[in-house]
Amino acid sequence: MVDRRKFLATAALAAGSTQAAPQLAIKGGKPVRAKPLRADYWGPQYYDAKERQELMDVLETGRPFRWYGRGTEPPMKVATFEKEFAARFGTRFALAVTSGTGALQTAVNALQIGPGDEVILPAWTWHSCYDAVVLAGALPVFAEIDESFNIDPTDIEGKITPQTKLIMAVHLQGNPADMDRILPVARKHRLKVLEDCAQSVGASYKGRPLGSIGDIGIFSLQLNKTITAGEGGAVTTNDPVLFERAARFHDLGGLRDVHQRVLGKPQLDWFVGCNFRMNEFSGGVLLAQLRKLDLIVGAVRANAQRVYEGIRDLPGLHLRQLPDPAGELGAAVFLGFKTKEQCERFKTAMRAEGVPVSNPGGSANLPTLPYVIHKVTVHPAWPSFTSPRGRSIQYAGCCPRTTDILSRFAGPHLDPKFTRADTDDIVAAIRRVYPQIVG
Ligand SMILES: Cc1ncc(COP(=O)(O)O)c(C=O)c1O
Repeated sequence: MVDRRKFLATAALAAGSTQAAPQLAIKGGKPVRAKPLRADYWGPQYYDAKERQELMDVLETGRPFRWYGRGTEPPMKVATFEKEFAARFGTRFALAVTSGTGALQTAVNALQIGPGDEVILPAWTWHSCYDAVVLAGALPVFAEIDESFNIDPTDIEGKITPQTKLIMAVHLQGNPADMDRILPVARKHRLKVLEDCAQSVGASYKGRPLGSIGDIGIFSLQLNKTITAGEGGAVTTNDPVLFERAARFHDLGGLRDVHQRVLGKPQLDWFVGCNFRMNEFSGGVLLAQLRKLDLIVGAVRANAQRVYEGIRDLPGLHLRQLPDPAGELGAAVFLGFKTKEQCERFKTAMRAEGVPVSNPGGSANLPTLPYVIHKVTVHPAWPSFTSPRGRSIQYAGCCPRTTDILSRFAGPHLDPKFTRADTDDIVAAIRRVYPQIVG
């Protein structure tokens, strides 16, 4: 016998109708999934004989250090990774470093940002962005995000002062920041643009790889990112002076043969550096992962597309703003609500359906955090906050729109290895729950 409820649910789904919506699991209906859907870390799901071989090469040759080692052959894992990274991202230069945080510090120092300078960054981003500015002795100035969850281009100009040197365009949770609206503001005020691609490795903006559009790009290759060796990072640029300063800073101020060969004649001299050098084990794993980047990105994008397609006709559908839908990574599909309360009800009902959703994540609403509000640094005389401007700037309450937006969006995370049945379940759960919340 045909289960009438199931028949109506299927019919409603097929027709895109919300009329005969089945009972929500939260109200006693059968959940879409018995076992909750869970996205996994992407890169490690693709580990295979290629990564193993890269690691074995380093073990067998006994050459774990990128500059030199046993035997007569130069170690080549990190150097090859840099070469292929630059080629994949369409930049003249790429520098491998130990982390995205190290990449940010390297880039900020390459740009010669320091005491007395101001840097505009989104209120919603990862701690490392703020830290890199403060660690350089410069002053962070927050701008609001918009419904893309990236920096709101309309909020940048009002934050510019004669001390502003840099805009951080952070491409968050797979979504490119709107570079066509950010770059003209930067050009008009002669500011540099740093693209932080940590959360969007492999995404693009209007056909251009992220990390190749601004003056300098940074990447994280930590576990939560598209490809990974557990930790790792990279800096990209087309500017030889920025690359040289980055290469020197990431080492101890000198310039090694590998980078001299890439650069040609050096233009700078020694200065102090940080040692953010990548080792050959990480370089090998990341080389194997880089060669799978397009496979991973293609798979996760296809899954996101299936979800977007499946919910496109829902009445009143409000999605995260996507400045370039084709370039987005598809890390998550976020739906918007009029109020935080509606969003919370959506989260509770989706969890009951076995398709958990969450608010935007992977970043912090920085101006709401006590260490930011109170300008806490290791040394009380840190130059970021001792100037009259540094003393007077107030972070608490500076970006209320950011807090509001983050509370009103939620969605499922996607995984490149989700099956068609998994994405069908996401669609089915959203189709069942969303109309009942917004309707
Ligand atoms: C936007 C952003 N920038 C920088 C970083 C720092 O990267 P890492 O964790 O590799 O230091 C992260 C890490 O999550 C990030 O999300």
